[in-house]
Amino acid sequence: MNQSKEVIIFDTTLRDGEQAPGCSMTLGEKLKIAHALKDLNVNVIEAGFAAASPGDFEAVNTIAKEIEGPTICTLARCNPDDIEQAHKALEANPNRRIHVFVATSEIHLKHKLNMAKEEVLKAAYEGVKMAKEFCDNVEFSPEDASRTDHDFLTEVVNAAIDAGATTINIPDTVGYTIPYEFGELFNHLITNCENADNVIFSVHCHDDLGLSVANSLAALESGARQVECTINGIGERAGNTSLEEVCMAVKTRKEYFDFHTSIDTTKLYPTSRLVSSITGMHVPRNKAIVGDNAFSHEAGIHQHGMLRHASTYEIMKPQDVGIGRSNLVLGKHSGRHAFLDRVKELGFEISKDELDPAFKEFKKLADRKKEIFDSDIEAIVLNADTSRLNTWELVDLETSSGSSWGALADLKLRKIDGTVHESATEKRRSSGPIDSVFNAINQITGYNLELINFEIHSVSVGEDAQGEVTVTVNFDGQDYRGHGVSTDIIESGALAYLEVINRIERNRERH
Ligand code: KIV
Ligand code: ZN
Repeated sequence: MNQSKEVIIFDTTLRDGEQAPGCSMTLGEKLKIAHALKDLNVNVIEAGFAAASPGDFEAVNTIAKEIEGPTICTLARCNPDDIEQAHKALEANPNRRIHVFVATSEIHLKHKLNMAKEEVLKAAYEGVKMAKEFCDNVEFSPEDASRTDHDFLTEVVNAAIDAGATTINIPDTVGYTIPYEFGELFNHLITNCENADNVIFSVHCHDDLGLSVANSLAALESGARQVECTINGIGERAGNTSLEEVCMAVKTRKEYFDFHTSIDTTKLYPTSRLVSSITGMHVPRNKAIVGDNAFSHEAGIHQHGMLRHASTYEIMKPQDVGIGRSNLVLGKHSGRHAFLDRVKELGFEISKDELDPAFKEFKKLADRKKEIFDSDIEAIVLNADTSRLNTWELVDLETSSGSSWGALADLKLRKIDGTVHESATEKRRSSGPIDSVFNAINQITGYNLELINFEIHSVSVGEDAQGEVTVTVNFDGQDYRGHGVSTDIIESGALAYLEVINRIERNRERH
């Protein structure tokens, strides 16, 4: 049995995350994310701020009705209207929490609330008390806690505990604190607040100085047992604590922290992609845990180490976060080992004598190109223009689609013998244009491939930006990747899929 201490994961992607500029979501999108958060096994979902707008109310209410398992929570200011709205939105769910907050720092009292300390104390007490009438599970947050005088903060927290709060959340609202200082604040509160043992202390950080994860971990070390976070760290300004980073820090350094979370970490990557595709907030390549480069290696020495043993340059397994495998990117920094490894992966065998000249060719090409694709490696090894060895070539592609009827693809392919083949028009209701193009290609070529991965990247900017599609399929137990680039992403998809089929054909001929 796991004896380590459990850290409650409180996800606020749908509340604090959604508050970020450009991140607002529709009801359907919020529901999709709520389902993904449940599958990820978060403990608490803060579904929105029910009193903020009718749309927010509906989202919290729908999520409360539909999602079973995690606690569903909504935010409310310490006033009767907000708390009533929160109650109404949540009442359908027995596993609910009302989260009330009021600002406590001098700056907020003076410039925002225009309230005296006594009034804030009263609001905190009465807010919690009222929420408690509707719901046993009440969280209280003193907003801007990290810039609040410690004695006053202790008084406010005491009032909230006295009124019945079950969780006390300490926010670093403006991302101002630093780890040691924040850890000390938690020590102070846990030592000095009355009945601190009866509540769970929680931490809520923002990333203005890039310290939100470090500050959250410092709070956990000082006794906090709940961390508030968002997928991909989305949130106001520089964002919130990133769920994937804090959870993987706890998991990877378990011997140091001796904590655990309930998170199914293998769902981190898919959840991150879901949130990024819904919000349009792109995940930077170098983002920890879920960025494209997080498990990619290009430097020759690193690739060599990775090929010997992944632990040389990786502290986590990509599979642990839901990424299929590490990616040894071939480029000008790659060494002979990585080159040979990719050659073998593509199904080629080359002798020692052939390796030298092929590797030299590869280095020359890598100096000219940013990234080397499988087709480039193939061309080098075969010492030929692989496009001339293609069995199938795209002649024409037309697609149309409609949300009510599905998609349609008309396709013409030329075979290496010069014959032109046309797909029978196919209309499929539940699929999009890419799916219908792949089906049309299958129809003509006679393949039916298992699609493992499909990725789209923009490779330039502006109106005539090119989209690159990478497709990975499995055929006969071997993975094949194909790339396609065009200003039309449907065409990129068709080219990538055809590249895969041509590669399979070449491999079959060789063997
Ligand atoms: O950052 C903050 O202070 C908040 C509170 C409302 C918890 O989001
Ligand atoms: Zn916040």
